[in-house]
Amino acid sequence: MTEENIKITPAKGRPMLNWVGKRPLDYVKGFPAQLVECFDPLNVNKIPQTPNYESLKDNWHNLLFHGDNKDVLATLLEKGFRGKIDLIYIDPPFKSGADYVRKVELRGVKNLNKLDNDDASILQQTMYFDIWNNDNYLQFMYERLLLLKELLSETGSIYVHLDWHVGHYVKLLMDEVFGDDNLKNEIVWCYTGPSQTSKYFVRKHDNILFYTKTDNYTFNSETVRVPYKKSTKFAGKTSFTGLTSEEKRKELDERGKLMEDWWDDVAGIGYAHGQITGFATQKPEALLERIIKASSNPDDIVLDCFIGSGTTAAVAQKLGRRWIACDLNKGAVQLTSKRLQGIIKNQISDKKDDKQLALLKENSLPKYTSFAVYKVNDYDLKILETESIELAVQHIGIQRTRTDSFFDGTFGKELVKIIDFNHPLTLLDLQLIQEELEKRPNEDRNITIVCLGKELSVDPWIEEWNKKHPINKLNVIELKTNPKYGSFLIHKPDEAKVRMERTDKTKGKVVIEDFISPTIIERLNMDNKLFKIKIPDFRSMIDTVLIDNNYNGKTFHIVYSDVPEKKDDLIKGEYEIEILENKTVVAVKIIDMLGEEVIITEEI
Ligand SMILES: C[S@@+](CC[C@H](N)C(=O)[O-])C[C@H]1O[C@@H](n2cnc3c(N)ncnc32)[C@H](O)[C@@H]1O
Repeated sequence: MTEENIKITPAKGRPMLNWVGKRPLDYVKGFPAQLVECFDPLNVNKIPQTPNYESLKDNWHNLLFHGDNKDVLATLLEKGFRGKIDLIYIDPPFKSGADYVRKVELRGVKNLNKLDNDDASILQQTMYFDIWNNDNYLQFMYERLLLLKELLSETGSIYVHLDWHVGHYVKLLMDEVFGDDNLKNEIVWCYTGPSQTSKYFVRKHDNILFYTKTDNYTFNSETVRVPYKKSTKFAGKTSFTGLTSEEKRKELDERGKLMEDWWDDVAGIGYAHGQITGFATQKPEALLERIIKASSNPDDIVLDCFIGSGTTAAVAQKLGRRWIACDLNKGAVQLTSKRLQGIIKNQISDKKDDKQLALLKENSLPKYTSFAVYKVNDYDLKILETESIELAVQHIGIQRTRTDSFFDGTFGKELVKIIDFNHPLTLLDLQLIQEELEKRPNEDRNITIVCLGKELSVDPWIEEWNKKHPINKLNVIELKTNPKYGSFLIHKPDEAKVRMERTDKTKGKVVIEDFISPTIIERLNMDNKLFKIKIPDFRSMIDTVLIDNNYNGKTFHIVYSDVPEKKDDLIKGEYEIEILENKTVVAVKIIDMLGEEVIITEEI
């Protein structure tokens, strides 16, 4: 953590929503950002180790962060981005009670048709837990909104995408933080799709709150005009007197209609073929296109700190805006990186062929063809932990409860409390359970505590407690020492066998000979208890292969990438690459279908 405190301006203050545990955010601290990957096909180069505004402003690289956005936004403030962001769009999780699950399929397995059970190829990867109780959720959003306001420029706008779950609460938060006088629109986005209920009206719209920082803001109403509907009748006085109705129609059609605040012409993602990434809450590009065109100009900086599958960055990139994105989920960061690599490659090859590449660099058209991926306050560990908890829960057979803010589920007739896997069960944990039970005098169930390990002092405490409490007895499942549960907790990393050789002075060959992801195999076998799964081709487990032909040991430069576009296509597995004449370290990064990665390096 860096030493300096970064001051945050208090919220405007009225109207004000209250919740248990509401606290202002007076100060935050930045974190070191570690450059882990970059994509720079035109070799614009000079990607800074730490992203600060001063060094980026005349040498721009788009930024993709892996980390909790609170840490990332604080880091951006520390690095000189205060007041520098022109447009913010966020689509936060909304306390829906559902876990968002991204279906991960093995590549090409359906086609090969060698697995006995089709469903076995679909691994469910929990993308993020959308399950806070109200108070925590409001505090979570409040802190992010306060930080976003600091980053927003004086002429900037912020769009917050919500729906009926928490839209009404967040609107009050926005009023408090940005001022109700800065609300410009509550946009209603209507879509259609299969209906799930006959108990009430089918819910088919989202709300997008549009606020500005001040009264002097960018808004390009002309760029987002839409055609009149065929059925529109033009009544009353118009400037078209003397024209035939056909001429009127033509004239009006050409000019188009000013966009209103309800949008029914943007289809939901289910209809956007070619865009679908498999990410459950992905939004259509057309929606972002309208927002970005209306509220920013080319070269402006667009930020989305809940990037998901990368839609905001994708559209910003296509429209010549600069972008900054963030997600705490590694899968989301990889998906975004992959999506943007594809778009940038297309932009470059669309514009010019190889010969003109030099020219292209000079004219820098298209602009901003590179991005860098930074890790902030290492999130990998935390994700592994969430994963382990999920797996433990499945192994033991715990029913998760989403509505209880303290206990995590039930196991038979007992209540379950899961202790974070980053520390052993301590007396403090037991005291918290005690306090919670005191608040629930009518609770008559026993309690199962699931933990990785426990401190010595807890056994006598529990013994004492159980003597005094025939009701609410405590029982501990310690995973580490229990052979029934222990095996999956030892995380086995991916392994790959890669052959790399020099074939000529400046040419080399990379061949992926074998690959195994123990986690994928474990998951498949867990979901299919009846038979052992055989994966016919190891390449089914591989999502992406990236190659750096001159690896410096620290930052991975994506020089070659093999990202099969279709789900059924396998990675090639064999690559001819160019290399320096001198001895060079070549690095191959293999990302599996669950987003885990392994890097193999060799000097050739
Ligand atoms: C509703 S999705 C965004 C979908 C996105 N608009 C798209 O088109 O794909 C919300 C995203 O926020 C991420 N997220 C949740 N909490 C976060 C946090 N504290 N910091 C960063 N990202 C977070 C989740 O991992 C998820 O990818």
